[in-house]
Amino acid sequence: MWFALAPGLLNPGIAAAASAEAQAAIASAHPLATAAGHEILKRGGNAFDAAVAVAAVLAVVEPYASGLGGGGLWLLHRAADGHQVMVDARETAPAGVKPELYIDGSGKPIRGATTQGGRAAAIPGAPAALVHVARNYGALPLAETLAPAIRHARDGFPVDERYARLAGLRERFLQARPEAAHIFLDDNHAPRPGWRLRQTELAATLERLGKEGNRGFYAGDVAEAVVAAVNRAGGAWQLSDLTGYRVIERAPLRVQYREAIITTAALTSAGGIALVQSLQMLERFETSDARSPRDAHLVIEALRRAFRDRAAYLGDADFVAVPVERLTSKAYAAQQAATIDPGAATRSEAPERGPAPAGSANTTHLSVVDAAGNRVAATLTINLLFGSGVVARGTGVLLNNEMDDFTLRADVPNSFRLRGGEANAIAPGKRPLSSMTPTFVEDAKGVLVLGTPGGSRIVSQLLLAVLDYVHAPAVDLEAIVGAPRYHHQWWPDRVEAEPEGFPAPWRAALEAKGHRLESARRKWGNMQVVFKSKQTGVAQAVSDPRGSTD
Ligand code: DON
Repeated sequence: MWFALAPGLLNPGIAAAASAEAQAAIASAHPLATAAGHEILKRGGNAFDAAVAVAAVLAVVEPYASGLGGGGLWLLHRAADGHQVMVDARETAPAGVKPELYIDGSGKPIRGATTQGGRAAAIPGAPAALVHVARNYGALPLAETLAPAIRHARDGFPVDERYARLAGLRERFLQARPEAAHIFLDDNHAPRPGWRLRQTELAATLERLGKEGNRGFYAGDVAEAVVAAVNRAGGAWQLSDLTGYRVIERAPLRVQYREAIITTAALTSAGGIALVQSLQMLERFETSDARSPRDAHLVIEALRRAFRDRAAYLGDADFVAVPVERLTSKAYAAQQAATIDPGAATRSEAPERGPAPAGSANTTHLSVVDAAGNRVAATLTINLLFGSGVVARGTGVLLNNEMDDFTLRADVPNSFRLRGGEANAIAPGKRPLSSMTPTFVEDAKGVLVLGTPGGSRIVSQLLLAVLDYVHAPAVDLEAIVGAPRYHHQWWPDRVEAEPEGFPAPWRAALEAKGHRLESARRKWGNMQVVFKSKQTGVAQAVSDPRGSTD
C-alpha cells in the first residue's frame, strides 16, 4: 500500500509544497509505477501526465498484465472545466479477420485460436492512449513522461515474487515461444524474485513513441515488425490495421445513486452499463450492508439481470444497435427490480456450471488525483497472463489476446465464462466487449477514483465498492478495498465467494434462498483507489492487499 505523504509542519515553504503533495494521490499495482507518477507530479506534471507515466511503467514492470501490445479504458476528469471523457483505447479486430480463423468446418471453435498466437491478438490501443492523453490533457512532453518507463526497461529492475510466480504459471507457454522466453524467462526458466528483467528493445520502442508519437509505433519499423510477428504466428494483419488505429473519446455514463454521482465507463465496456443497471435496481430496495445475506441476495439478483442483458444486447455500438438508453433508464430498472423476489433466487435460463474463470493478475488499474482536482482512472490490459505470447522481434512488444473477449457462439463461453450473442460477434474493425470499469464516485464526502482487474469479476467488485462507499457515513478506504467479495454473472448460475470471506451462516442464508454457492480457490481483484476529501482537500491512496498475494 502506498499512501500520499503527510503535509509538512515546520517551515512554511516546505509545508506549502508538502501540502500540494498531500492533495495528490496515486494508487497502482506496482511501487515503481506509483513512484514514477509522483516523480512526474514533482516535475510539474498534472494527473494526466502522472497517469501516462504510471501506465508506461506498469507496461514495463507488469508485462504479464498490460503493455504497449494491449489496450485500455481511461476515464478522465479535467478540473478546470469539469470535462469528463472516456478514452476508449480498446484493441480492435484487424480488417482481415475471418470466421474460419476461429471456427472449424463443423462449426466448432478452434482450440486456442482466441487465446494463443497471432489470431488471438487484436490491434493494440495502448500506445495511442499514451499519446492521446499526453497531447490532449497533459502539461509535459510525452518524452518526459515516458522517461521513467524507458529507464526501467533499459536498466532493468529486480522482479518481485508476484512476477516470479506468474512467470512460473506460464513457464511452458513462454518456453514454447522463444522470442517471449528470451525476454521474460531467466535462461528459459521462470526467474526467482530479485532477477533483473531488462527490456532494451522495449526501451527503444518507448523512446520512439515519446519522440515520434503514434508514428513511432503504428508506422515504420515497429509496425512492420509487429505485423510480421503476428502473421508468422498465424494472424492476418496488414500495416493499414495499425496506421488506421484510433482511440475514440466517448461520453462516460453517469448515474445518481442516493446522494452520490457515479461516472463510469461507456461501451465498449459492458461493466459501466451493468454497474448503472445494478445500482438503479438496488435503489428500489432498502439496503444498508452489501455483505449482509439479505442485501447480498439483492445484489446477486441485480447482477444476474445486468449480466443477462449484457449477453443479450451488448456489443460495439459502432457496429450494432445497442439500446443503452433503455437499459440504463430508471423505468427499465423499476421493471427489472419488480421481478426480484426478496425471498428467492431467480434461476438463470442457462443453468449449467462451468470451471472457474481466469485469475486477476492479468490486467491492471491505476487511479490518480492531483492537487488541482484532475482525475484519472485507467484499467489497462493485454487480457490473459502474458497475452497471446507473441513478441514482435526487435521491439519488445508483447501482443494481447483480446480476441477472446468476443463471442464465438452463443453457447460458447470465453475465458471469463462470459456468454454473449450476435452483438458481440467478431467483425473486421470491431472492438470486443470489455468488463473494465474505471469509475468516479462523488458526494458530499469527496471524490473516489477506482477500478480493478478481474475479468467479469471487475463488475461485482466495483458494485460492492460503490455500495460500501455510499452506505458508510465515514470513508474507510482499507475497508472498501479489503472487504471480502462475492460474484455472480448470470451464467454459470452460481455465486462465487472468496475463500474465508463468509461464515457458514451467511452461506446457509443464501442457500436457503436457492443460490448455488461455490467457494473460489483464490481471492480475486487488485483494486486501486484514491480519495480526495471535500472537507480537507487531502488525498489518500490505497492498494488492494490481494495484489501482493494473488
Ligand atoms: O476487457 C476485459 O474485460 C478483459 N480483457 C479484462 C481481463 C482482466 O481483467 C483479467 N484480469 N484478471
